[in-house]
Amino acid sequence: MTGASDFAIVIMAAGKGTRLKSKRAKVLHEIAGQPLLAHVIRAAQQIVPAENIHVITGHQTENVRAAVEPMGVKFVLQADQRGTGHAIMCAREQVAGYQNILVLSGDVPLIRPETIARLRDFHLAKKAAMTILTAEPPDPFGYGRVIRTSADSDRVKAIVEQKALSKSQQKEREINSGIYAFATRPLFANIDRLTTANVHGELYLTDMAALLVKSKTKVIALKAADAAEVLGANTLAELSSLDATLRARKCNDLMAAGVSIYRPETCVIDPDVEIGADTILEPFVQLLGRTCIGSDCRIRSFSVISDSQIADNVLIRPGCIIDQSSIAAGAQLGPYSHIRPGSEIGEGAHVGNFVETKKTRLGRGSKANHLTYLGDSEIGSGVNVGAGTITCNYDGVNKHVTVIEDGAFIGSDSTLVAPVRIGKGAYVAAGSTITDPVPADALALGRTRQITKEGWAAERREERAKPGK
Ligand code: UD1
Ligand code: CA
Repeated sequence: MTGASDFAIVIMAAGKGTRLKSKRAKVLHEIAGQPLLAHVIRAAQQIVPAENIHVITGHQTENVRAAVEPMGVKFVLQADQRGTGHAIMCAREQVAGYQNILVLSGDVPLIRPETIARLRDFHLAKKAAMTILTAEPPDPFGYGRVIRTSADSDRVKAIVEQKALSKSQQKEREINSGIYAFATRPLFANIDRLTTANVHGELYLTDMAALLVKSKTKVIALKAADAAEVLGANTLAELSSLDATLRARKCNDLMAAGVSIYRPETCVIDPDVEIGADTILEPFVQLLGRTCIGSDCRIRSFSVISDSQIADNVLIRPGCIIDQSSIAAGAQLGPYSHIRPGSEIGEGAHVGNFVETKKTRLGRGSKANHLTYLGDSEIGSGVNVGAGTITCNYDGVNKHVTVIEDGAFIGSDSTLVAPVRIGKGAYVAAGSTITDPVPADALALGRTRQITKEGWAAERREERAKPGK
């Protein structure tokens, strides 16, 4: 009995993507924050182990391989791209040993694993030589059309490419998705009979349908329930509409899990983002990469959060940028805070307007509410960082650390010249430039004393009022 383990998955990804008018290889264009090809591989990995996935590359092969190498797949080289049929010929040696192969297209990225599994099961149950996944999208223009022997039959006569459709065939609505299951023996027994007798002078994999019918083997079609799953990405407009579909899917999944999203069509949320229940996302929020957000948070408009961990009950006010950082429970940020890589904002801490942090740990309950730069700093709990405080962490060559211990108070407009340490409970007077360590509980003043000249302004006004001046 042929089982699922006898399947390899072949992904065709060698084409240039001429219609995108882009320098970048088509399968490296991104939707939902990942290359098209990565989406297809992720779906394939749900069906077979990565070592049974063979990716055919050709155009910009190094770039394409580098982008998906970590996913553990195998590669096949199609040095010159002479069509989808030729692509499969190139994979022959690597996959002929499997009883069946599933062929996916690197530019059909929305395919769901469940649909691939259905195709596999249908193909096996019907003992077909070739099973074509089809769909009926609202606009079939541009796709190959699948011609069945009759409307109510599984059996297929041929696939006809758009440019070769006869007048009457132009009415056919059932499209070829570019996704197939093949029994390898009949496939490779007949593949050398493909010809280049078509408008592009290419070897079309689609012509295998008619060839296999001619060789008296069974070619059948299975229609996908949701045509949106098999739409291709041949132009930047199509790419953007696939991106919108995936973003909408993600928002729907999150909303189903208890996350409120006020205007989901304005939010950009990558597929791996996790969010706890009762968190609210306001319009125009972007959550990217491996971001994880807890419960009962509110992320206000125009915030962009990448690869960061946000705990429960956190308030992110409008316009914050948070990258590769962690925010502990109950913290409040923004508006307009810039939390750069390596920042750890402690429980209940406050980071306010135009405050930038980098590689900085701000302890529990500490506050830096206005116009401040905190770089390479270790800041304890209950610290108050006054408006306009700057850690001078860079001497032009090296970066140095500023340490501020628990309960210290940094007066406004202070510059802390690192390396420097402010001891527990110490005070730094406003406007100080601190270059030496400040011991615990001390007051440090690093500024010139104020001089007050009594009556000076009045005298000046009098002087000016004299005639002739
Ligand atoms: C193909 C099908 C068409 C189907 C459509 C679905 C053919 C001849 N036509 O058309 O019936 O409706 O997909 O999306 O197959 N590729 C290679 N090597 C090559 C050529 C292409 O690996 O030499 C790869 C491409 O990178 C792409 C996939 O195969 O990922 C499909 O190629 P593409 O040129 O986009 O075919 P379509 O014109 O879309
Ligand atoms: Ca295509």
